[in-house]
Amino acid sequence: MSGKRALITGITGQDGAYLAQFLLGQGYEVHGLLRRSASADVIGARLKWLKIDGRIILHDGNLTDLSGLIRVMKDVQPQEVYNLAAQSFVKSSWQQPLLTGTVTGLGAVNILEAVRLANPEARFYQASSSEMFGLIQEPIQSEKTPFYPRSPYAAAKLYAHWMTVNYRESFDMHASNGILFNHESPLRGIEFVTRKITDGVARIKLGLQEKLSLGNLDAKRDWGHARDYVKAMWLMLQQEVPDDYVIATGRTASVREFCQFAFNHVGLNMEDHVVVDERFLRPAEVDILLGNAEKAKAKLGWAAETTLEELVAEMVEADLQRLTSQEHL
Ligand code: NAP
Ligand code: GDD
Repeated sequence: MSGKRALITGITGQDGAYLAQFLLGQGYEVHGLLRRSASADVIGARLKWLKIDGRIILHDGNLTDLSGLIRVMKDVQPQEVYNLAAQSFVKSSWQQPLLTGTVTGLGAVNILEAVRLANPEARFYQASSSEMFGLIQEPIQSEKTPFYPRSPYAAAKLYAHWMTVNYRESFDMHASNGILFNHESPLRGIEFVTRKITDGVARIKLGLQEKLSLGNLDAKRDWGHARDYVKAMWLMLQQEVPDDYVIATGRTASVREFCQFAFNHVGLNMEDHVVVDERFLRPAEVDILLGNAEKAKAKLGWAAETTLEELVAEMVEADLQRLTSQEHL
């Protein structure tokens, strides 16, 4: 054991699960914040998938409830706090702008306050996002690129981002923002485009479905693997000086290309199966994202390890396996 304790908000999500696995591997005692749900059967499905559910200490709490966060902070006294909890689905943020602002924006301030009041020496990580670049102001985005949020989600993340900087500068807290570009995995939520595609491809291959309905096929993203990206979160908190870092692969690809890779992987043609449905278009789109992670490489020694082709193959294979064994995730 490293003797270190970490607290992860959003531990039931994609990144929370991979980060928990990574920190356990580093010898940490891992604590997670769990929001109460009536659907107890789905809680912790990702932790179970990684076979680490029995090794995490879970605490009831919600990002919107400051007193509960202070209680957890006092009980756990973690050396490191990773704030990954959020209403993270961009499309939903137009339908639920106030909830998104409350959880994704103000929620980050609640946890910053809990750290400041109950455990000010803890190192803090905020899950910032490339979505904040929105209507891009430079063709390749780095820590110096101005932000231009294009969704209620991005605006909420921008508030949380600047509050993290503000707490660092005002209260001398060890608080860092990871500006992470899109990262995916077999544990990605089914509503996000990559997982929707790999699940759809697997269903079509197995004869369970014929068509896959998508929105904007021309949108481009810099897609990496979540397993690689959680290492960068940890590395940021191991630095003597807190700072903000872009985490990206430096390669962009369209939704159409992602589809082509996925269909090709199982020997099918996307043209035979993909239909465009305008219900999946957004009121405002982020057309393209492409990150420059040179600072992370130089200062953290971090670089993406998984190629897009490897990521797609792993996701399609996991979905084929899940569907044939009737697992649900
Ligand atoms: P995710 O799978 O959607 O997980 C979100 C987590 O937040 C879940 O554990 C969820 O709990 C929890 N949560 C939501 N509302 C909460 C509340 N009110 N109180 C406490 N917990 C709450 O997201 P992810 O892909 O792992 O991303 C992790 C973080 O990184 C998010 O903040 C996201 O916005 C940010 N980010 C993600 C990416 C990406 O490409 N994945 C890129 C940049 C930034 P339930 O399980 O109960 O729903
Ligand atoms: N979800 C979805 N569903 N997206 C679609 C679809 C579809 O059927 N068809 C096309 N797209 C396009 C979207 O319009 C968008 O341009 C792109 O695919 C990616 O959409 P998502 O996978 O939903 O991710 P995102 O880029 O909006 O947001 C993700 O990445 C951000 C980092 O840049 C989320 O993980 C955010 O939480 C994260 O901050």
